[in-house]
Amino acid sequence: MSHKLDVLISAEEIQQRLDELAEEIKKDYEGKELTLICILKGGVMFLVDLARRLPPDSIELDFMDVSSYGDEFKSSGVIKVDKDLKNPITNKHVLLVEDIIDTGRTLSYLQKHLISQKPASLKFCTLLDKPERRVVKDIIPDYIGFTIPDKFVLGYGLDYLQKYRGLPYIGVMMQE
Ligand code: PRP
Repeated sequence: MSHKLDVLISAEEIQQRLDELAEEIKKDYEGKELTLICILKGGVMFLVDLARRLPPDSIELDFMDVSSYGDEFKSSGVIKVDKDLKNPITNKHVLLVEDIIDTGRTLSYLQKHLISQKPASLKFCTLLDKPERRVVKDIIPDYIGFTIPDKFVLGYGLDYLQKYRGLPYIGVMMQE
C-alpha cells in the first residue's frame, strides 16, 4: 500500500502562529522566569522554535520522555516515564510543551506527576489539539497552536513509525 501526504498546516502558518503564541506567553509571564518542559520526542521542534522567540535571560529548558503503550495510531492510557526532569521545578513557573493532545491521558498523568513537585504555576502549551479524541475531559490546554480534526497527522515533530519528524509542515497521510 502506498501513502500520499497532504499538507494540513503549512510551514508558514506554523511559524506565524508561533509568533502569536510567543507574544501571548511573553505577556503572561512578563517579569517572571519560566521553565519550558519539552515532552520528547514530538515536542522538540515546537519547543526549539518557541524558545527562540522568548527572552533568553528568563527561560530555562528541561526535557521529559514518556511513552504510552499502544500501536502507532492509538495510545492505551498506560504511561511510563522513560526520562524524568534534570532540575527541580519546586517554586518555578512551568510551561509544558507538547506537540499534540489526543486522548489527554499523557497530560493528565504529567499534570499529577509535576504538581506533586509543587511548581509556582503549571500551564500547558500544545501545537495541536484534537478535542474530538479527548478521553480525559478536564484536560484543557492553556495555549493551543491549532485545533485539528481527528486525522492521522505527522511532521514538525510528529512521527509515522518514528520517521517524518523533520518535515517543516503538518501533513496528513492518506492511504491510496
Ligand atoms: C504523543 C504526543 C503526546 C501524546 C498525546 O506522543 O507527543 O505526548 O502522544 O497523546 P494522548 O493525549 O492520547 O496521551 P507519542 O507517544 O507518540 O511519543 P513521541 O512524542 O515520542 O512520538
